[in-house]
Amino acid sequence: MRHVGTDYNSENEVRNYDERMSKIRDIRAETRGIISALDLKPDQSVIEFGAGTGELSAAISEQCRGVYAVDISRVMLDYAAKKTHSLGRNNIRFIQAGFLNYRHDGDPVDAVITQLALHHLPDFWKQIAILKISGLLRPGGKLYLRDIVYSIKLEKYEASVNHVLDSFKKIAGDEMFDKFSNHVRNEYSTFDWVMEEMLYRAGFDIETADYGDNFMAVYVCHKRRG
Ligand SMILES: C[S@@+](CC[C@H](N)C(=O)[O-])C[C@H]1O[C@@H](n2cnc3c(N)ncnc32)[C@H](O)[C@@H]1O
Repeated sequence: MRHVGTDYNSENEVRNYDERMSKIRDIRAETRGIISALDLKPDQSVIEFGAGTGELSAAISEQCRGVYAVDISRVMLDYAAKKTHSLGRNNIRFIQAGFLNYRHDGDPVDAVITQLALHHLPDFWKQIAILKISGLLRPGGKLYLRDIVYSIKLEKYEASVNHVLDSFKKIAGDEMFDKFSNHVRNEYSTFDWVMEEMLYRAGFDIETADYGDNFMAVYVCHKRRG
């Protein structure tokens, strides 16, 4: 339950989160991609870990029976609950918990989604978290994972990080530059090959792994049967 790196229990951080993200992400396009990748059905249920301001949980809740929106930050959850309530969504449960201490009291779910949250855990705990996620899914159930993952050439790590920092500065200004520097210094993003192996060892088969600009990865996986 401890915040690592950015403190998402800060009111200011949460209030400005959606606006800051809109400078560097196309949230609507991401959401459409997730809905299509998961092929959600109206009778299915989904857990989102690190649900943040609830943008995705709100959109997903229109496509399925119910969403468990899990986050360690009370401030994030309150903000998300207010937002989704005003949109008339009543099939989202907001639960204050982390990847590691979440206890699920329903049937295994059809899909788990987590975006930009797993890097808050160091690799040992990431592996345990992915194992726990696998335990929450029905066989064949899907995992959609988006996070900052390094798929860079090792010997060029410095140039690669500086390049991405410069692009952040150009696109989104000093604040995003500082955030990303803080991310590289203090948060626990890992390498592509580590993440792929962790997914495999926790019982997932990767359907697609997209490494875009070598810093952001999207994995669509399913839990192996048997
Ligand atoms: C960068 S935000 C991402 C929010 C949202 N998923 C998005 O894509 O914009 C990270 C979120 O993960 C949450 N978080 C941090 N550590 C966590 C943990 N151990 N378990 C679950 N959520 C965590 C934070 O409170 C925050 O809401």
